[in-house]
Amino acid sequence: MFGQKKTTSTDTTVMSLDETRIPKHVAIIMDGNGRWAQKRHLPRVAGHKEGMNTVKKVTIAASHLGIKVLTLYAFSTENWKRSDNEVNYLMQLPVDFFDTFVPDLVKENVRVNVMGYTEQLPQKTQRAVRNAIADTADCTGMVLNFALNYGGQAEIVTAVQKIAQKVVDGEQQIADITTKTVDDALMTGSLAPYNNPDLLIRTSGEERISNFLLWQIAYSELVFTDGYWPDFDDAELRRCIHEFQQRDRRFGGVKQKK
Ligand code: IPE
Ligand code: IPE
Ligand code: MG
Repeated sequence: MFGQKKTTSTDTTVMSLDETRIPKHVAIIMDGNGRWAQKRHLPRVAGHKEGMNTVKKVTIAASHLGIKVLTLYAFSTENWKRSDNEVNYLMQLPVDFFDTFVPDLVKENVRVNVMGYTEQLPQKTQRAVRNAIADTADCTGMVLNFALNYGGQAEIVTAVQKIAQKVVDGEQQIADITTKTVDDALMTGSLAPYNNPDLLIRTSGEERISNFLLWQIAYSELVFTDGYWPDFDDAELRRCIHEFQQRDRRFGGVKQKK
């Protein structure tokens, strides 16, 4: 349909992509696990389990496409509001994920990074994250960047505190604070030069940001898909990238001559 904004998961065409214009940093708000399970009369956590398998498949697909950074929103600073049962399950998932998947990540040359307030996670989750980061530290391919207990507003507050402390310590002049100072102080600072997503995808039909990368998406292309995260796959990722490649990124300038 002309002007159609959403990609559809019923479309089975394998999208041919312009290999020279693959987005370097792709971020995904993986949403709809609970509804995927509810639709099947399963407990919500069954959706999270299936969603974990989707993460594995999509990670490999993204790496093969030549994406440099794949950022996945796995747990927000607001997700603690959920039932103890669901939160406990979500805290166990990284343990299971890395236990079973780190050898594949090493084989794929994928390096794990985690951004978020990890010190608030249970010890077992912290340990799993620490080990995965250490075990993949020498990988030089795609960075698989998990946002775990991450919130965009909290991240900005922490960055402001860091910068203010430098001012107090005499290491930073107020007049010299630039967008680069903020870029560096955010949790994505270590991803340089790919701090900001080129493409942000959200599954499940919701069209909001839910406190994900607020500063970093200033010029990201946003793609919303209707399917639930457990049903997302390689073909859907390609459709999202195809949609990205149709966009004219102007960054405030004028339309590029084709
Ligand atoms: C996304 O799926 C996973 C997390 C937020 C951890 P949801 O659990 O939000 O699924 P819905 O949105 O309730 O369907
Ligand atoms: C965003 O999804 C967080 C993650 C995908 C981890 P939510 O399901 O928590 O967002 P809301 O509540 O629908 O805004
Ligand atoms: Mg949700």
